[in-house]
Amino acid sequence: MYHFLIALGLIMTSTFAAPTGGPSGCGKQPPSGVSPGGASSNRTLTSGDQKRSYLIHLPQNYDSNKPTPLILSFHGRTQTAKQQEDGSQFSNPSFNPDGIAVYPQGVDKQWQGDPDAPKSIDDFKFVSDLLDRLNSEYCIDPKRIYATGMSNGGGFTGLLACDPTVSAKIAAFSTVSGAFYLGVLGAPSNALPDCKPARTPIPLLHFHGYVDTQIKYLGGGNGSNRGNTTSIPDYLDRWAKIDGIQPDQNPEDLCDGKVKRHSWGNGILQHYNETLLNHEWPTKSNKVCYDGAQVIMEFFGKHTL
Ligand SMILES: *[C@@H]1O[C@H](CO)[C@@H](O)[C@H](O)[C@H]1NC(C)=O
Ligand SMILES: *[C@@H]1O[C@H](CO)[C@@H](O)[C@H](O)[C@H]1NC(C)=O
Ligand SMILES: *[C@@H]1O[C@H](CO)[C@@H](O)[C@H](O)[C@H]1NC(C)=O
Ligand SMILES: *[C@@H]1O[C@H](CO)[C@@H](O)[C@H](O)[C@H]1NC(C)=O
Repeated sequence: MYHFLIALGLIMTSTFAAPTGGPSGCGKQPPSGVSPGGASSNRTLTSGDQKRSYLIHLPQNYDSNKPTPLILSFHGRTQTAKQQEDGSQFSNPSFNPDGIAVYPQGVDKQWQGDPDAPKSIDDFKFVSDLLDRLNSEYCIDPKRIYATGMSNGGGFTGLLACDPTVSAKIAAFSTVSGAFYLGVLGAPSNALPDCKPARTPIPLLHFHGYVDTQIKYLGGGNGSNRGNTTSIPDYLDRWAKIDGIQPDQNPEDLCDGKVKRHSWGNGILQHYNETLLNHEWPTKSNKVCYDGAQVIMEFFGKHTL
């Protein structure tokens, strides 16, 4: 009997205990108004004296006793969290049946890394504060937290991958049409900001339209005089160097040759060169043969901290 009780105790501890090492919302009901499978909720928190907001979507099968993956999806400049939810599709159960999707809102609809982002805003701290808040309210698996974003949100996702504090908490990254500006955050005018990831290699899945007129594949400006971005091949070479990895093979043709997929280090770094896409999120209904959300979720599923 005694042994049986100990065994029962161990089973209960391993099934129901909160993961150790930080605040945990495991075992707690979600805040009122946030319901599994329902429409996303708009929530706020204060970070660095600023009131910030984000949309959160819980999967239908959310169980507050089961550690759950988390996907952060960052909008582009001039866009909203709601537009990012609709465009990126991580609240759609056909792409993301099991993960929590969160769409943070940038102050003045932009993120650090854009030349016009105000210096008074600390979006890196916002992401840290947001992760602490989410961990305290929901049962999040600390080994399966992911970040993705579009345009300025993709550029910011790339900066998170380079951040020594935030990158330690995120298992994999994906950037779509990312805007990687030179000369921002204190970097010299012809250089990207420093990149000091907490570990290497960093899993990164990168998409860019070859005919992007806003953030050009080959870098430079787009005529609007808002600053220059790095060329995509330079950006990827830089990551391969940081990661210490080599190309896997010659690029692979996808979608009848409309997309060229490059891969380094057994796929830890991947690049989709979408030859027909402009500044757009890839979907099957738009010139490519895959849905970005699906490819991103498959990539994230291969990486845990
Ligand atoms: C969420 O709430 C914040 C602050 O109350 C507001 O600024 C933002 O526009 C709202 N977002 C959505 C998608 O309703
Ligand atoms: C250049 O890019 C900015 C976004 O960074 C956009 O607002 C502007 O419309 C673009 N200009 C052209 C000519 O595409
Ligand atoms: C962008 O690059 C061009 C060419 O190197 C340079 O003349 C221009 O000053 C740069 N623009 C900015 C905003 O740094
Ligand atoms: C990207 O695709 C374009 C158009 O097919 C091609 O000219 C270019 O060489 C490709 N670059 C890379 C790095 O795949």
